[in-house]
Amino acid sequence: MEITITSNYDEMSRVSAQIIAQEIQRKHDLVLGLATGDTPIGTYKELVKIHKEEGLDFSKVKSFNLDEYLGLAPLHKNSYNYFMWENLVKHININPENVYIPQGKIKDPEQFCTWYEAQIKKVGGIDLQILGIGADGHIAFNEPGSSFASRTRIKALYKQTIEDNARFFDKMENVPRFAITMGIGTILEAKKILLIANGKKKADVCAKFIEGPVTSQLTATALQLHSYVNIVLDKDAASKLKRTEYYNWVRDNKHLIQKEVGR
Ligand code: F6R
Repeated sequence: MEITITSNYDEMSRVSAQIIAQEIQRKHDLVLGLATGDTPIGTYKELVKIHKEEGLDFSKVKSFNLDEYLGLAPLHKNSYNYFMWENLVKHININPENVYIPQGKIKDPEQFCTWYEAQIKKVGGIDLQILGIGADGHIAFNEPGSSFASRTRIKALYKQTIEDNARFFDKMENVPRFAITMGIGTILEAKKILLIANGKKKADVCAKFIEGPVTSQLTATALQLHSYVNIVLDKDAASKLKRTEYYNWVRDNKHLIQKEVGR
């Protein structure tokens, strides 16, 4: 896992958007896994800026979102479909037919989950998966105890997640209790992963998932089993890490590898 500690939210957003832009420039038909939530809003703003100012081309990109609340229609203001449209899709030149987001209001959610997994396979898998992290350590909506082998499915949300989401809904009764979410197994099959986190409220969970033991009780620790994970944090989210000095040294001295090879 490569860890980059940035000075604030804006820098975290710029650095993560640059990583995504480079991957799109390298492979024009990139399959991008997308996350919602507060964390990636700045990253998406930066991507829109790179598209508008530098012509970053999304015309061949395909995207697959991690999750959606069960029961919310795409036009519902709190749905992740609506979020993606407002924060990214309507501002860039991605073909809407290539934007895959789980549907929350659907007759047969289980059949939908199977179909969703099949679509990911059909395009050759996800090249770069963007992730945020929940205060309970979830990635997507893989709540504590989720199997590391899990695939896209319906998941009951954890108490902490329901409380965290309550800020977006008028009444507690309206906060969804279930979501459709990619599984840990689905996420681990992405070729590359980029996790972003900011703020003091993420400091504990970041220290645990980066430096703690692997456990399904904190599902983000599954990322320790993946061979290519970039983690971009702001300094608040990184404030409880123990090996910060090492991470910074590695990031600043990568160029020395070439020098060593030439010795
Ligand atoms: C959203 C998702 C969630 C969020 C996480 C953090 O698609 O998969 O795992 O990334 O709940 O949310 P924020 O960014 O709002 O703190």
